[in-house]
Amino acid sequence: MNAITPNAPALPAPVGLLAELTHRCPLRCPYCSNPLELDRRSGELDTATWQRVLTEAAALGVLHVHLSGGEPTARNDIVEITQTCAKLGLYSNLITSGVGGALAKLDALYDVGLDHVQLSVQGVDAANAEKIGGLKNAQPQKFAFAERVTQLGLPLTLNSVIHRGNIHEVEGFIDLAVTLGAKRLEVAHTQYYGWAYVNRAALMPNKAEVDRSIRIVEAARERLKGQLVIDLVVPDYYAKYPKACAGGWGRKLMNVTPAGKVLPCHAAETIKQLEFWYVTDHSLGDIWANSPAFTAYRGTDWMQEPCRSCDRREKDWGGCRCQALALAGDAAATDPACSLSPLHAKVRDLATEEAAETPPDYTYRTIGSNVQSNVRSPLNEEAPL
Ligand code: SF4
Ligand code: FES
Repeated sequence: MNAITPNAPALPAPVGLLAELTHRCPLRCPYCSNPLELDRRSGELDTATWQRVLTEAAALGVLHVHLSGGEPTARNDIVEITQTCAKLGLYSNLITSGVGGALAKLDALYDVGLDHVQLSVQGVDAANAEKIGGLKNAQPQKFAFAERVTQLGLPLTLNSVIHRGNIHEVEGFIDLAVTLGAKRLEVAHTQYYGWAYVNRAALMPNKAEVDRSIRIVEAARERLKGQLVIDLVVPDYYAKYPKACAGGWGRKLMNVTPAGKVLPCHAAETIKQLEFWYVTDHSLGDIWANSPAFTAYRGTDWMQEPCRSCDRREKDWGGCRCQALALAGDAAATDPACSLSPLHAKVRDLATEEAAETPPDYTYRTIGSNVQSNVRSPLNEEAPL
């Protein structure tokens, strides 16, 4: 337990800091969890400010820093920022697409003490992967990047976001992870925030495909015990109970955007009534303890029924606030992914219907695009789908 400010009650320290260094990215994945309004380069924090934020994070008790984006290696100062993590004793995880300038910077990142690499792969078949990522010739770059990561002896995690465009490749992702020498594979079914929410109908798999993918992962976990760890994130809309999103609101994670806004989760900006603080105005410790956005849904006092009296309320913390807002129109509602939510049946029906339709074209992630008009209204209990 760390005391955050002299007068604040003691709070557990955040474990992780997601440092979204930039929203710039060579890929254009339609499931990106970044906001629809992406920050521009001109608004990004400078090197010294990031270094100060990392120093404050270490003092606060943060253990892991996820250097993310967009594509974090698009920053010219990624090596300096990584070096700062190492000097502060922060475990650094580079979350990268492995394309663009990533390979050219990898050795320097290793030299200054990078601890871990998480590489995204959009598909197994190159043409499919490059269609999903919206970038030609990405796959060979990713493979060359992965090869160098393992040559350097850095631990490698592959991240595959699963949806109807690649769910037939789950076995292939597992084989690919073994071939590339990864120690860990994330089979992460798409979570519908940000760009994924806009593209939901294009991405939603059907229940039979989801169940099959889970069986494949479970069998592979047995087969590859001791060789490959496989993390499985199941799709919310078909779940019985929701996930503890971000480990519970304001409990484990801080997310700093490229412009320095500090969020309790990556999609929190969709909750318009929240007041977010910036690292340029407040210390990280002050934000963690006192920012209205962090205190809004911390703990259980804010909960409504059925969460309020549910014995799982300190396990999943009511699920995801951003999903509750998107689907129920109220960020304090029970996450409709929960089978105890009055909207749950509707959410399942919606997923089933979308998965049965011919998928629309992807709306690719782009800086400066105007896709707000594509965002769906929340469901309500009475209205038809
Ligand atoms: Fe979790 Fe709330 Fe559902 Fe209970 S009712 S399982 S606390 S989301
Ligand atoms: Fe915001 Fe789940 S993404 S609480």
